[in-house]
Amino acid sequence: MHRAPDTFQTPRLVAERPGEEHFEAMCGLFNDPGVMEWIKLQNFSPEKTRRTMAAWQTHWEQHGFGIWVWRERDGERRVIGRGGLRLFVIDGRAEIELLYAYRQEFWGRGLGTEAARGIVAQAFGPQLALNEIAAWTLKTNRGSQRVLEKSGFVYERDILHADRPHVFYRQIRPADLDKS
Ligand SMILES: CC(C)(COP(=O)(O)OP(=O)(O)OC[C@H]1O[C@@H](n2cnc3c(N)ncnc32)[C@H](O)[C@@H]1OP(=O)(O)O)[C@@H](O)C(=O)NCCC(=O)NCCS
Repeated sequence: MHRAPDTFQTPRLVAERPGEEHFEAMCGLFNDPGVMEWIKLQNFSPEKTRRTMAAWQTHWEQHGFGIWVWRERDGERRVIGRGGLRLFVIDGRAEIELLYAYRQEFWGRGLGTEAARGIVAQAFGPQLALNEIAAWTLKTNRGSQRVLEKSGFVYERDILHADRPHVFYRQIRPADLDKS
């Protein structure tokens, strides 16, 4: 099995494989009103956060990659949110999805794009070497669509997901990565 690194860095952020030390921060993320507006995670009790984090751990063990918790590299080293890769069946096809959510206080500084580019680099890098990844977001979520476009995704089609209109994006492994 190919394995992604447990931790890696981007210019301003550190990605860490989730552990108990991230529990409080994830409770905060999953109750952030800005995040709630875009991802359907109502009533995220501490117990549900625990179950979710346990599912992330299982995904890592089964597939060798998963969600990372993202933290500032410098200063207070605050946790900004979570983002990574997961297997998900959508429209009858198994996709490797790029997903992310960051606390509202960190929006608008390019961090969403920076983390997404870091995750894409891991997806196509030598350790994971995936052939393609996908992402989808609400049609109204322009911020998320810009993050996808700026990290190399291409719009593929409109879809209905969870009974709501979404836009579906895909990114194929760049050909120049295969030359070496
Ligand atoms: C979507 C999200 C990741 C964006 O993170 P961010 O750190 O603010 O993004 P960036 O600062 O890297 O901005 C990326 C681009 O999106 C644009 N953008 C960000 N928010 C926007 C908004 N609400 N409307 C329109 N454009 C927006 C920025 O202007 C920038 O584009 P530009 O460089 O052309 O100006 C963040 O808002 C978030 O976590 N949202 C809640 C969870 C969520 O929606 N997750 C995705 C579910 S599919």
